[in-house]
Amino acid sequence: MILITGGAGFIGSNFVLDWLSENDEPIINLDLLTYAGNLQSLATLDNNDQHTFIKGDIGDRELITSLLNEHKPRAVINFAAESHVDRSIHGPEDFILTNVNGTFNLIDEVKRYWKDLPEDKKQAFRFLHVSTDEVYGSLEKTDPAFSETTAYAPNSPYSASKAASDHLVRAYHHTYGLPTLTTNCSNNYGPQQFPEKLIPLVLLNALAGKDLPIYGDGQNIRDWLYVGDHCSAIRAVLEKGRVGEVYNIGGNSEKTNLDVVHTICSILDERRPADKPYAELITYVTDRLGHDRRYAIDANKIETEIGWTPTESFETGIKKTVDWYLSNSDWTDNVTSGAYKSWINKNY
Ligand code: NAD
Ligand code: DAU
Repeated sequence: MILITGGAGFIGSNFVLDWLSENDEPIINLDLLTYAGNLQSLATLDNNDQHTFIKGDIGDRELITSLLNEHKPRAVINFAAESHVDRSIHGPEDFILTNVNGTFNLIDEVKRYWKDLPEDKKQAFRFLHVSTDEVYGSLEKTDPAFSETTAYAPNSPYSASKAASDHLVRAYHHTYGLPTLTTNCSNNYGPQQFPEKLIPLVLLNALAGKDLPIYGDGQNIRDWLYVGDHCSAIRAVLEKGRVGEVYNIGGNSEKTNLDVVHTICSILDERRPADKPYAELITYVTDRLGHDRRYAIDANKIETEIGWTPTESFETGIKKTVDWYLSNSDWTDNVTSGAYKSWINKNY
């Protein structure tokens, strides 16, 4: 079986669903259920014995050790993190606690467990750390895309905390021989993303007739990857990745924020016409502090070594995403109303 952390968040919950649709290997899912964790995303697994959910912190060494000893996973995949750049600007501390200290406590306990495994299991074991392209900093329009050898230059407290965690993972491989893999991925979008991130925020604001806030001039560029493709990339790296290596994952879809927002507006104009075009709700607001201008991924390594390429284009993926939000208003209502949080507080 495998143990994953952060499996009630956006990418983690998509990964759990994807894993169990591709595999019958059981999955243990450890998640603290912060504001970003949502068990409703996993509701279809309520009667599935292959999925075990545990509420807890990656920094809780006792809990990690007992889970490792009880379930004896062949791999650990670390998705758990504080993930929102704007929140890291307003309050960096949680990012240090989870992304740096939490990852340290987790990997240190994993190392203890791994070193006592029998030799064949020790060889086969993997610790896969899910990270971000933001650790490489910001690009100018004509700069070459980030490759695995681009120097780290994180600019936000979020990306600095992820960079620190990546370095710890690298050091645990180099120093102790722990069989690690690190993936650095571009911006994900798709079902079950918490509506603080650009795409779901714009979608839900548009449906509510609210302003669509564009930071600065809207010309910042991100590379967008459909979340299902990120999940298949992680499965592929887990299976075929070379121990100790880093793999960049991207969608070959660089877009300005303004283009992304216009695309969402025109899909909504077709799917859910309002009395005026949704693009009229676009409002320019004060820029994010230290706002990175452009991210771009050179995904040559994962393509040539592992044979992975994305299956969705931005055009197909964004339509799927809009359709998911249009037909899952109970999920978004719950997340935005706080009803879900009160349920968690009562039940956990
Ligand atoms: P998310 O914020 O949606 O989910 C994070 C999950 O981690 C939540 O379920 C939360 O409850 C859980 N969590 C937080 N602190 C925890 C702790 N101390 N112990 C256990 N669980 C904890 O994030 P996401 O967008 O799904 O991102 C998942 C991972 O992928 C992160 O490591 C992030 O840095 C990375 N990543 C995200 C993107 C993206 O575009 N969203 C792109 C590249 C990499
Ligand atoms: O690149 C990968 C990263 O992508 C992940 O590591 C992060 O976890 C994830 O949150 C994401 O970071 P970004 O900062 O790029 O995503 P966000 O959705 O917050 O913003 C996307 C772009 O849109 C960014 O340039 C800021 C801008 N933006 C965002 C919001 C929320 C706006 O213009 N208006 C907004 O209201």
